[in-house]
Amino acid sequence: MMEKVKTIAVDGPSASGKSTVSKGVAKALGFIYVDSGALYRGVTWNAIRKGVDLRDDAAVAASMHGAAWDFFVQDGAAAFSVDGAVPVQELREKEVREAVAGVAAMPEVRRFVVENLQALAHFGSLVMEGRDIGTVVFPDSPCKFYLDADPEERAMRRYRELVAAGEDEKAHEVMDSLKRRDTIDTTRKTDPLKVADDAQVIDSTSMTLEEVIKKIVDAVTE
Ligand code: CDP
Ligand code: CDP
Repeated sequence: MMEKVKTIAVDGPSASGKSTVSKGVAKALGFIYVDSGALYRGVTWNAIRKGVDLRDDAAVAASMHGAAWDFFVQDGAAAFSVDGAVPVQELREKEVREAVAGVAAMPEVRRFVVENLQALAHFGSLVMEGRDIGTVVFPDSPCKFYLDADPEERAMRRYRELVAAGEDEKAHEVMDSLKRRDTIDTTRKTDPLKVADDAQVIDSTSMTLEEVIKKIVDAVTE
């Protein structure tokens, strides 16, 4: 089965462990790691930077199509530049975090991002994490995983992460923000977050990262 595997899809809500787990799986298998959320964040960051009204779908789409996007692989992970700039820390800023779910709900934005994500397969075998990788981006992949964890546990993970990064956040605000994003992601009309019929669901509430990575690597190499 390994020879045929080209894309491993890892979907799930915020702070379910997708990024950390997908990076570990990619490293173990020598695949390229792709953070699809980064591209939605990139579209959001680009629009904010250009002073676009984020409630205006057409204006967001125009700023997206008006920018020059370039994709490449660096240190085993897919990366991109926008008009020559490579945003990384910028994508994690609060302004982007608060706006990204709204921008990602725009059909034109999703079309653009999905097409670019599919094209990354040219670089080689991928481990791609997101919300709709198994359902929309690579529906034919035989390796789909859906990571989940209780909302309280997810909010605590995100909170600890933000505090460690030196951000001044309140635990209840992180919880509210995460729930708000969950709601937008699961109820939007275009490609909502849902479990693919053929995905293996992994509840990581009381699992360590190593256990989750091993479970996926074992399932893929089986
Ligand atoms: O990518 P996603 O938002 O789904 O989650 P993440 O960024 O990989 O994980 C969020 C935080 O939870 C990280 O700091 C992980 O180290 C932590 N985590 C954990 O402690 N135990 C797990 N089983 C999964 C994630
Ligand atoms: O790290 P975290 O899980 O909080 O978020 P992310 O993976 O960076 O994704 C940011 C936002 O992009 C999510 O809240 C979704 O609204 C959107 N997204 C999406 O709609 N589809 C994807 N495949 C990936 C992200």
